[in-house]
Amino acid sequence: MSGHGNPVPMTARKSDPLKGRAEVPGDKSISHRALILGAMAVGETKIIGLLEGQDVLDTAKAMRAFGAEVVHHGPGDWAVHGVGVGGFAEPSAVIDCGNSGTGVRLIMGSMATTPITATFTGDASLSKRPMGRVTDPLSLFGARAYGRTGGRLPMTVVGAAGPVPVRYVVPVPSAQVKSAVLLAGLNAPGQTVVIEKEPTRDHSERMLRGFGAELTVEKTAEGHVITLTGQPELKPQSVAVPRDPSSAAFPVCAALIVEGSDILVPGVSQNPTRNGLYTTLVEMGAEIEFQNPREEGGEPVADLRVRASALKGIEVPEERAASMIDEYPILSVVASFAEGMTVMRGVKELRVKESDRIDAMARGLEACGVTVEEEEDVLIVHGMGPGGVPGGATCATHIDHRIAMSFLILGLASQKPVSVDDGSPIATSFPVFEDLMADLGAQIARSNP
Ligand code: S3P
Repeated sequence: MSGHGNPVPMTARKSDPLKGRAEVPGDKSISHRALILGAMAVGETKIIGLLEGQDVLDTAKAMRAFGAEVVHHGPGDWAVHGVGVGGFAEPSAVIDCGNSGTGVRLIMGSMATTPITATFTGDASLSKRPMGRVTDPLSLFGARAYGRTGGRLPMTVVGAAGPVPVRYVVPVPSAQVKSAVLLAGLNAPGQTVVIEKEPTRDHSERMLRGFGAELTVEKTAEGHVITLTGQPELKPQSVAVPRDPSSAAFPVCAALIVEGSDILVPGVSQNPTRNGLYTTLVEMGAEIEFQNPREEGGEPVADLRVRASALKGIEVPEERAASMIDEYPILSVVASFAEGMTVMRGVKELRVKESDRIDAMARGLEACGVTVEEEEDVLIVHGMGPGGVPGGATCATHIDHRIAMSFLILGLASQKPVSVDDGSPIATSFPVFEDLMADLGAQIARSNP
């Protein structure tokens, strides 16, 4: 199992108004997919704006281990020389996906229909997360998986020598599961069909089409029926990665709760399968202007002008959960500064993320003086109004980047400083977080250098 380094305690304090421009890094989901699809195309894929967070760097390393040439030309500027669908070589060493559920699950899918064997591992957080949700459908193609009890890493996947196409109804709302099945379907003959009852992020569908695969999506009473024709020759692409709406959420939410703030966050993806947080914030009364809407890299993007706002608690519709699944931790922080109660239902998938995010947020918010109610599938935060959160606690981050960033944002507007026991996981998705927030005027520092 890979290690995770020394903990980096950090502290955030009440800050003066945040001002300026926050250029957040490239989208994590699209970055993983650009590397994997680039490795499965024939020829050179160029990528600009790639997120250089540890999760994505681990996927780049894995693609090299499967035989693709992955070249780093400069900041965000990468090239992948792919080996074609079914062209992966057998890795000579264990594939370490670090902290990344997306990385490991998508890579398992991409190799599961090629007759090679690969062993996967990850850090202490990833090794607790369920892999059965991808290895179950991959076994329908003819792949076999041998892992620890409960389908945990480390795990060896033996790719199918004579894969058959699959029809699979995804039992949990998960873009990772959907994408793993589609990537496996690439090297199966005939048509692989994936059905999702609740739509999740659609980057795989958009990008597979962009790389030349034949893929259709039909909306039926059963849900979204995605049909992929197997064994295409994927054509290399130039991918421009838009800025990550899940990373943008942190400066945006900070500006909403730090009195007097006014910031601009340019070029943020507003893909409707990803923008549930922004819809929710507007319903809560957030002053967000979506300026200059346009298309970049096949995704709708906008520049977000955000001003500190008086917010009210709301009931977040359950059916919105998939489009903001990574944003509930930071929403629960914003909800703490709203007037009234914010009710988040249909959120049980948060329990199997990098940490149990419902538990992590509930315990940390309580320690900071916020009243929280928690059920298996529900999180309710009782807002304390602007400036009303006492703070003054150290919150456990459980090797989870989004928990670490959420509590640091909480500390920017609470009465007493808020610390986290370990901010090091932030580097997995948002390596420039500290500098970017400091440039806006946020008081965030490493506690004990
Ligand atoms: C992702 C899907 C989501 C999300 C993760 C990225 C993806 O996970 O939480 O951060 O890129 O497909 P699930 O598929 O587990 O919902």
